[in-house]
Amino acid sequence: MAIPQEFISELRMRADIVDVVSSYVKLKRSGRSYLGLCPFHGEKTPSFTVSPDKGLFYCFGCHVGGDVIGFIKRAENLDYIEAVRLLAQRAGMTVPENTADNGMSRLRTRIYEANRAAARFYNKQLYTDEGREGLEYLRGRMLTDSTITHFGLGYAPKSRFALVNHLRSMGFTKAEIIQANLANETRNNNAIDRFTDRVMFPIIDLRGNVIAFGGRTMIKDFKPKYLNTSDTPVFTKGNNLFALNFAKNEAKGTLILVEGYMDVIALHQAGFRNAVAGLGTALTPEQANVIRHYCNEVILCYDSDNAGQMAVSRAIQILRPMGIGIRVIAVPNGKDPDEFIRSYGDQGPARFRMLIEKSGNDVDYRLRKLQSSYNTDITDQRVGYLSEAAKLIASLDSSIERDVYISKLAQEQGVMKEAIQEQVNRIVRKNSSSAAKREFRELKKQIIAENSAADRDKYISFGSAKAEELLIALLMNNVDIAMDVFRRVPPELFTSAFNRKVYEIIKSNAEQGYDFSLADISGSFTDEENSRIAHILFSHTRETYPQQAAEDYIRKMQENSERITRDQVASADDDELRRMMAQLKKKKT
Ligand code: GTP
Ligand code: MN
Repeated sequence: MAIPQEFISELRMRADIVDVVSSYVKLKRSGRSYLGLCPFHGEKTPSFTVSPDKGLFYCFGCHVGGDVIGFIKRAENLDYIEAVRLLAQRAGMTVPENTADNGMSRLRTRIYEANRAAARFYNKQLYTDEGREGLEYLRGRMLTDSTITHFGLGYAPKSRFALVNHLRSMGFTKAEIIQANLANETRNNNAIDRFTDRVMFPIIDLRGNVIAFGGRTMIKDFKPKYLNTSDTPVFTKGNNLFALNFAKNEAKGTLILVEGYMDVIALHQAGFRNAVAGLGTALTPEQANVIRHYCNEVILCYDSDNAGQMAVSRAIQILRPMGIGIRVIAVPNGKDPDEFIRSYGDQGPARFRMLIEKSGNDVDYRLRKLQSSYNTDITDQRVGYLSEAAKLIASLDSSIERDVYISKLAQEQGVMKEAIQEQVNRIVRKNSSSAAKREFRELKKQIIAENSAADRDKYISFGSAKAEELLIALLMNNVDIAMDVFRRVPPELFTSAFNRKVYEIIKSNAEQGYDFSLADISGSFTDEENSRIAHILFSHTRETYPQQAAEDYIRKMQENSERITRDQVASADDDELRRMMAQLKKKKT
């Protein structure tokens, strides 16, 4: 680990874990801790805990935990150094350079820089003679100059070397430009601009980095209409959403999900600044995972063609299990939101607002869609529709919601409510018994997994390992008594290899005069190990008399170490055998 310890300690103090986590998770105070819905697995009741005192988070549902750096690593999918950078940036600190650079994160930094330079370059082109055409195109689509500036739109010139030459003159290498996917490599190893003669839409992540571009041709019927950045070390198409960087601050609980860049921009310009778009794919689970931090309701507004409606179904299937409310807007006459708003001129925004207000939730939408595939005037088909509809209603979690739709359906089809009710209930019972079985299987799997994890560690003595954990938690929570313990207790006294490693690292930090909270040592452990340490720290409450408790734990560990049984020898590995021998020798002398 290349970042100085002092820096990490300072960062830990300045980057308050509750503050940081709060921008991802809604936290509610609960005693000395905070509770919220875990951002790392789907859950409906909160088991995600943050302790400001300890500087830790831990999820009792998925057993993921760690310090503030570990949280950012997971939440933003970054490596350790990148997470430190991001936190430092938030806290207004500068990471000491050249120590922090390693291969991959350096390349990623260069790609961000190249993308930013490219976005500036493309934007400037709009105001040159060559780029005038691009500016006219955007204005022709009714975008105002301030919208163009706000989204950083631009124009990629016709020449195949314009951007490459510009970036080379700024010191970017050919390899960096190609890795950023701003240029393609030709057969004789030249770099040529990926985007030529297109209007450019920069894609910006939640931290404000330019991570990719979409480029639209201005030539009618030219293929492809949009050319996008392929996946790069800083960009994965299915993980990002266009304009979420703006929309996340405006969401107020609701996001509008549309298909195209132009739809998003037109909506923002019309005052719907909570609109976002996928990047040419239907909603992915990864994207859903991101947006659920920023909203509890999504309004789906896709094209009315077949592909668009398929995409609506997919999105509903992904969002509903997450407990996100869904509404579906049908834009009339096969228009997309951009065309719809423009077609009403000044009235556009008001008209779109009306569409939102009229939009049903997804059950209505799905029932309507289901009905359209049956001719309910024919008895057979009506029965078919009713039984499919009952299945759909039975899939709803809330019995109140089920009842609403049962009544509605009964009225609409002129059937007794009780008849539908009975059928729905039958399906619900069947579903829930299979859900119970599934849950049981899951539980069994978990128990087996936990057991094998315990086996792996091969505690020689359970009692001792427990005392070791207690001692570690105690030391990390009571710095004042720690030095004395470090002097007296050698790492060899720890029977669990994992506990010993943790002890060695906090001890070595302490001896060099550094702090040793989890944030100070997390860089020396894997994510899984950090989760485990967080669990140890979370599972132990503060002792009133830490000095006395420490003596108890140490005594317990010593007693155990003196008792080496035949079983223990038989099951010990080489490492442990060596340690036992050393202990025996020590006892003799
Ligand atoms: P305009 O025709 O300019 O109004 O575009 P739009 O924003 O309405 O886009 P459209 O509905 O045609 O397509 C929706 C989205 O799909 C676009 O924003 C792109 O992300 C993506 N897309 C459209 N055409 C292409 C294409 O030819 N190639 C790729 N890779 N993506 C495309
Ligand atoms: Mn369009």
